[in-house]
Amino acid sequence: MAKKIAVLVGSLRKESYNRKMAHALIALAPEALKPEIVEIGDLPLYNQDLDDEGRPCAEWTTFRQHMLEFDGVLFVTPEYNRSVPGALKNAIDVGSRPYGQSIWDRLPGAVMSVSPGNIGGFGANHHLRQSLVFLNVPVMQQPEAYVGGAAQLFDAKGSISDVKTRDFLAGFMKAFAAWVERNS
Ligand SMILES: Cc1cc2nc3c(=O)[nH]c(=O)nc-3n(C[C@H](O)[C@H](O)[C@H](O)COP(=O)(O)O)c2cc1C
Repeated sequence: MAKKIAVLVGSLRKESYNRKMAHALIALAPEALKPEIVEIGDLPLYNQDLDDEGRPCAEWTTFRQHMLEFDGVLFVTPEYNRSVPGALKNAIDVGSRPYGQSIWDRLPGAVMSVSPGNIGGFGANHHLRQSLVFLNVPVMQQPEAYVGGAAQLFDAKGSISDVKTRDFLAGFMKAFAAWVERNS
């Protein structure tokens, strides 16, 4: 059966390149994967008091329960000030608590960073990996994916016409399918 993959997009912007990339990756995924975007934009900022007092935000609970349905997680994120955007870090923090009930534990993962800049979001990509080590997410090492020049990548419909890029993205998803299979 196809593995269900949660795709978390680190940008909340309507015309986000990362969201466009997430859609492109979903379209190029092999049959072994069934990816879908899980929205993180409505998650209130994490506050440990609410968990400690047994009254977590409803949006946190919905997110935590929904994430348990997945066999893997794919992060597609921009870089904000050389690090992970707050919205994505918040989703990671929400999912990691209450202590001992982290939704991330042993969930196979992959990271792609997308930026209009030349460095392709390298800083965000690796800061994210730092959290994922602690959270015990087995993260695919290769191929790495730091996608620069995002402003030139998509046409008006959000499609990627460059064949080399499409091949790279399809290869990335194929490798991720194998990674999820191996780590399930
Ligand atoms: C708060 C903020 C910080 C940013 N910092 C970086 C950065 O460190 N590196 C980078 O390549 N781009 C940076 N950018 C530019 C983003 O890469 C650009 O806005 C990109 O389009 C965001 O991704 P999105 O299109 O998916 O929303 C930053 C943008 C914002 C709003």
